[in-house]
Amino acid sequence: MLFIEPVESRKALFFCLSVLSRGACMGVIRLPGLIDPHVHMREPGGTHKEDWDSGTCAALAGGYTCVLAMPNTLPPLTDSRTLERSLAAARRKARCDYGVHLGAGAGNVQAAASLAERVVGLKMYLDQTFGPLQLGDLAALNGHMARWPRQRPLLVHAEGSSIAAALQLAWLNHRPVHVCHVSRKAELELIRAARERGALVTCEVAPHHLFLTEDDAPSLGPGRCEVRPRLATGADRDALWAGLKSGVIDCLATDHAPHTAAEKDGENPPPGFPGLETALGLMLGRLELDELVAVMHTNPSRIFGLPQQPETWIEVDPDACWVVTAGQMHSRCGWTPFEGRRLTGRVRSVTLRGRLAFRDGEVLAPAGWGQNVRSD
Ligand code: NCD
Ligand code: ZN
Repeated sequence: MLFIEPVESRKALFFCLSVLSRGACMGVIRLPGLIDPHVHMREPGGTHKEDWDSGTCAALAGGYTCVLAMPNTLPPLTDSRTLERSLAAARRKARCDYGVHLGAGAGNVQAAASLAERVVGLKMYLDQTFGPLQLGDLAALNGHMARWPRQRPLLVHAEGSSIAAALQLAWLNHRPVHVCHVSRKAELELIRAARERGALVTCEVAPHHLFLTEDDAPSLGPGRCEVRPRLATGADRDALWAGLKSGVIDCLATDHAPHTAAEKDGENPPPGFPGLETALGLMLGRLELDELVAVMHTNPSRIFGLPQQPETWIEVDPDACWVVTAGQMHSRCGWTPFEGRRLTGRVRSVTLRGRLAFRDGEVLAPAGWGQNVRSD
């Protein structure tokens, strides 16, 4: 068995790699529990797509032991009442550990900061996407940038020139900012340039932008190809891979955004792809194991200030070949943009805080086993 574990030193995180045992092939690899800083759990208001139960089952099946949920629920999570509604459901249902990001609205500039202890980060939507949270008002944007505590993550959905606005406001307010799902070469170049000049900016990429381009839209179909940010060009995809390899991109985040197959195939298809159950299989073999652990565990843990999960690891068979089939997935959405794709490498088991939480396709952790990473 190959064991890869992040070990903290004074200056940096290093990885220790030791071969514990080997079978005929590589054997089973033990990795730290994966952390996804960007998922949509749809509770409240969209539980026919996903809820805290089905979504965290999908997470465990994908090797994730901690997920951070976005606030674009119905109603969105912008105050203590809506936040409590989602957290109460999570407390009862979640099977893996979790945190929640608060939504930045025009009306909660004052109130948001008072809820910072209860959430992981504040999410600001600068561009149009699923849900009502787009924040167009400059005073509100700047107000959130100024008031949200500096030591707490501030995340932006910002595409194209909106990234320039987000970086500028963060710079003026002397604060770090995390850019969600970067999808274009020009965006990445801007982030790199800002970083080189000392801007405190981190970013994430979604697997679908690494594996699919606009050329895949016809075979996916007109509704199923809809996602925000949209699928981009082959040149954008290549730049994202280079950014991931060179460390400009800090995290892999699935942006697990389940909508039902009927919704995707119907009128006004909502944008979004499920991703929790395919991410690891896609990335294994494409990244070195230490790179994979960095972008799927260590960096998300550091950027989002997450507590260590004691006695937590996953076992992966890197040689297991399988075909992606929506029917075998735990997500409630019933489809995947990777249907039929052959992947090599699969999660065999997940151990979460000392308990066997998933083994060979079966979720074993009970509802409620998941813990909030913030004060509950
Ligand atoms: C997300 C959703 O459905 O909630 N959709 C998407 O296309 N990514 C919203 C988002 O993350 O922008
Ligand atoms: Zn999202």
